[in-house]
Amino acid sequence: MTVAEIMQTLEYGPAPEAAEPALDWLRSHRNRFGLFIGGRWRAPKSGTWFATLNPADGRELAQVAQAGREDVELAVRAARRAFAAWGKTPGHLRARYLYALARQIQKHARLFAVLETLDNGKPIRETRDIDIPLVVRHFYYHAGWAQLMDSELSGYEPLGVVGQIIPWNFPLLMLAWKVAPALAMGNTVVLKPAEFTPLTALLFAEICVRVGLPAGVVNILTGDGRTGAALVEHPGVDKIAFTGSTEVGRLIRRATAGSGKRLSLELGGKSPFIVFEDADLDSAVEGVVDAIWFNQGQVCCAGSRLLVQEGIADGFYQKLKARMEKLRVGNPLDKAVDIGAIIAPVQLEKIKRLVQRGLEEGAELWQPSWAVPKEGCFYPPTLFTNVAPSATIAQEEIFGPVLAALTFRTPEEAVRLANNTRYGLAASVWSEDINLALDVATQIKAGTVWINSTNLFDAASGFGGYRESGFGREGGKEGLWEYVRRVRPRTPLARKKASPARPQRPEALPPIDRTAKLFIGGRQVRPDSGYSRLVYGPDGGLLGEVALGNRKDIRNAVEAARGGFEAWRRASAHHRAQILYFLAENLSERAAEFAYRIAQQTGQEGREEVEAAIEALFSAAAWADKYEGVVHPTPYRNVTLAIPEPVGVLGILCPDDWPLLALARLAGTALALGNALVVVPSPQAPLTATDFYQVLETSDVPAGVFNLITGERDELAQTLAEHDDVDAVWYAGPQEGQAMVERSSAGNMKRTWTLPQTGPLPEVEEVLRQATQVKNIWVPYGA
Ligand code: NAI
Ligand code: MG
Repeated sequence: MTVAEIMQTLEYGPAPEAAEPALDWLRSHRNRFGLFIGGRWRAPKSGTWFATLNPADGRELAQVAQAGREDVELAVRAARRAFAAWGKTPGHLRARYLYALARQIQKHARLFAVLETLDNGKPIRETRDIDIPLVVRHFYYHAGWAQLMDSELSGYEPLGVVGQIIPWNFPLLMLAWKVAPALAMGNTVVLKPAEFTPLTALLFAEICVRVGLPAGVVNILTGDGRTGAALVEHPGVDKIAFTGSTEVGRLIRRATAGSGKRLSLELGGKSPFIVFEDADLDSAVEGVVDAIWFNQGQVCCAGSRLLVQEGIADGFYQKLKARMEKLRVGNPLDKAVDIGAIIAPVQLEKIKRLVQRGLEEGAELWQPSWAVPKEGCFYPPTLFTNVAPSATIAQEEIFGPVLAALTFRTPEEAVRLANNTRYGLAASVWSEDINLALDVATQIKAGTVWINSTNLFDAASGFGGYRESGFGREGGKEGLWEYVRRVRPRTPLARKKASPARPQRPEALPPIDRTAKLFIGGRQVRPDSGYSRLVYGPDGGLLGEVALGNRKDIRNAVEAARGGFEAWRRASAHHRAQILYFLAENLSERAAEFAYRIAQQTGQEGREEVEAAIEALFSAAAWADKYEGVVHPTPYRNVTLAIPEPVGVLGILCPDDWPLLALARLAGTALALGNALVVVPSPQAPLTATDFYQVLETSDVPAGVFNLITGERDELAQTLAEHDDVDAVWYAGPQEGQAMVERSSAGNMKRTWTLPQTGPLPEVEEVLRQATQVKNIWVPYGA
């Protein structure tokens, strides 16, 4: 081709990045890697190895070890040994190590980028300009948190040994998201990279040695799902952090149930990309490219559902198709390639199967005129229009370069469609009207919302899901809580036995034979079962009767709570605070009655508990308009608003001790933050809760936001934990009950918080965190 011809066609020439340095590195290991345990390379006890391939040409890059149970055992032991010292290493020293890791990765950035591209098939442009710089940024950022831990997280300590399991779509970046915060907070880790992409983790292991990181602080076990499962089940692991499919996340939730292991899950998504008619359409088209063709669409937060306002839909599709025609699919090492290879044939088959399904369900398919390379694992950028909201391709995560487009007419409809998914990882909103964009952003149920932007990430911003996209955050200060626990709860209220003389019954108390009903939707209602249960005091005397609630009552209560939630969440924080103060005021009116009830049921002096409960309600009221978010300083021209939002409909099963204080501290705080509740009081002291109806009824608490069901704790807990419209369950009770709740929660991956049956109550700050989930809204600016 002559220069003149090139000027005419503007064809791209080949611009390959050299693979040699990475291949040399592999050769220096004889293309065979052991496990990195206790600071050394070891052959796997399992004696098995497997190949990792380059998806762009199917060629084998290296053999890596398949860690078996014995290897997991060794790694966990090494991590435990290392933890003894690492957990006590001063923050400043840990900061130096993290800083050194960042520097080393930066110095070898190109090697990491090329190796990642070879192993994963993603374009070098992305590994070089996005993955590796973000990895470096993550280590720098968390070096800072190690430095600041003493002052900013005082009263918290590391968890211990953390098992981390990561996927293949961002191999080194997911490693960084997991390892950096864990080490910064003083934990040691056993990390299992995905079987398709183990290589950059192994290069990272070498870097750990180079910076002199103490042996055993980081251990890397290669292997497939079996290795992951063994790590999850290992009793010596204090926490599991997982990123991957919702399916495996669910298995892990069940496998860890009742083990006491902490868990954070970052799972799948089906994120909406919403284009309003007043959007800058050319920018929005570029946004779509970054949303769904970044990393071949193998991105958990990919904008895989395009929602376009009806009036501009056709024009927008035309622009988009013109742009798609210009995308280049091919050799990932070519610097001018936009879309690289799909990770593996199995993933390619999944994409093809779902595309076929889209056609069968009547959607219209469009692909560019050019063909993708025949060799290797490639798939063209694909647009489906005319997609029904319930279509498989609009609901299921495809994890490929396939976009499903739907239209909407009004902002309300856009929100409804956006939330019409079981996931809630991210969303992108395009409009030049900031009022509209922010209004929509606050209504979308997702952990991250990008306004006029998409797929922006930074270590300073939290990332994580709502609903079946998982729980826990990575990045930002909010991500640190996943790796620490409180040193020890503060001293509990002193207990005093009630005076031996039978407590005096105040005049105002209702007669003893009153049968308390259930409290649902703002009304006292009879239980569905038609049964009641007798309540006895510690001395065996009959105190009264409470209704025996069942599944049906729970379902009614959940429905009432859901009905009340939206209005309550949107009520001003000031308004919610007023109601909490009013509750406190009305409780104080009846202090003597409640003290008497507590003494009757527990044999303990009740006065102090009533005072503490009043104070707890004041505290909840105080926090209602003071539990604020932050603006994360992310390195773009934008503000990143981290906003704590209520979790939604919460089931709370109260502990046996401090019946009134528990109600005030747990339920009061959750209520103040905008949640709607289904509360099950302790079976030991249910009368305190049923007396509380009268306080609720006189305090302007809107119908439905506070429901109370008495009955068998574990039976009611199970119904709540299994209920798909419950967003979180807090359960205080015996260990078997905790296991049951965690296991049962896996259906919709609701958040759970398990507490001891008796003993001191959690600190308010923990309750506040459990009562909220952080949404990050990215708002760019620029004239
Ligand atoms: P996966 O969820 O099976 O793999 C993720 C990680 O979990 C890997 O390291 C794997 O070895 C490990 N693992 C597998 N089974 C395990 C078990 N029982 N216990 C513990 N660890 C286990 O994802 P996979 O099979 O690679 O991809 C399947 C689909 O999952 C994709 O098509 C995509 O839809 C989705 N996916 C979503 C990701 C996300 O970030 N949201 C990431 C990867 C996959
Ligand atoms: Mg590979």
